[in-house]
Amino acid sequence: MEVAISVRNVSKVYSNNIRALSKVSFDVYKSEIFTLLGPNGAGKTTLIRIIIGQLEPSEGEVYVLGVSGRDFLKSDVRLKVSYVPQENIIWRNLTVEENLYLIGSMYKIPRRVLKEKVKELLIDFELFEVRKRLAHKLSGGMERKLSIAMALINDPEILILDEPTAGLDPRARASMIASIEKLKKLGKTILLTTHIVEEAERLSDRVAIINYGKIIDIDAPSNLKTKTCGIEVLELLFKELNNEILSKVTSTIHEKNIARAGDKIVIKENNFNEVIENIRSNEYLSSKILALSVRKSNLEDAFLFLTGRFLRGE
Ligand SMILES: Nc1ncnc2c1ncn2[C@@H]1O[C@H](COP(=O)(O)OP(=O)(O)OP(=O)(O)O)[C@@H](O)[C@H]1O
Ligand SMILES: [Mg+2]
Repeated sequence: MEVAISVRNVSKVYSNNIRALSKVSFDVYKSEIFTLLGPNGAGKTTLIRIIIGQLEPSEGEVYVLGVSGRDFLKSDVRLKVSYVPQENIIWRNLTVEENLYLIGSMYKIPRRVLKEKVKELLIDFELFEVRKRLAHKLSGGMERKLSIAMALINDPEILILDEPTAGLDPRARASMIASIEKLKKLGKTILLTTHIVEEAERLSDRVAIINYGKIIDIDAPSNLKTKTCGIEVLELLFKELNNEILSKVTSTIHEKNIARAGDKIVIKENNFNEVIENIRSNEYLSSKILALSVRKSNLEDAFLFLTGRFLRGE
């Protein structure tokens, strides 16, 4: 497989001594959707800014289409890469279509070609109806779509999206996901970041799980799930999960098979019936449990287990 982006042993320590990245390495292949999945502060934006040459790494090297990060901004390769930052960059006192024409003229796209391209993007991103509307009157979802449409005006090979669905409601999010899926069909290489697990699972060919600046694992979502959690897990939701409940429920289970997130306990690779029976036969536990299900493992479980939140007693 051809490599589009290569990150080699990259670390970043900011001037205030915050270590945002520690020895991160991975390759993004051409035409894949590669996702950095991690919580707030994990280092996703820092890594992306290093990849596109906005920040220098403290250690290590990145290559985009074979060009080193040091030379990226001086090279024509930068024109093959579009980056949509976490915050929308649009001209709010211009209309939707004027924003697209403006960015197209910056890339010196001939007027006739640009006209076609603008129309195509307006349709693809469901913005055609609002093309004459001033950008400051758009909804959050429309604004985000306009930002991404603008990044596509010059038909880049690589698209880098920092949290494309942040702040969107479920409908706008679904529509954004559909738009990104369309881009994949066109053969674009897409690097995206998210902390939304369902989105990573739905869109990605491969996911890198990043936590406190370190890559914990990289794999296809289905592999991450099964190798980390098996096919099925038992999920228990309690009303105010406390240490007493936790130890009563998990006393016979190996620590590595338990993860906790808030009031939820996830158990893997165990005799689930035994655990359920234990809860049913205990009056106190029965009174505290809100929901109980044996279900297929998902990427969120993989994330919980991989990031080391085996929170017995925490
Ligand atoms: N310019 C900066 N100067 C100093 N520290 C910074 C700077 N930018 C980010 N950091 C710190 O580096 C760490 C990683 O931040 P980063 O923005 O890369 O995370 P992120 O994964 O993108 O988070 P989010 O999901 O909230 O966008 C955080 O601890 C953050 O406070
Ligand atoms: Mg970020």
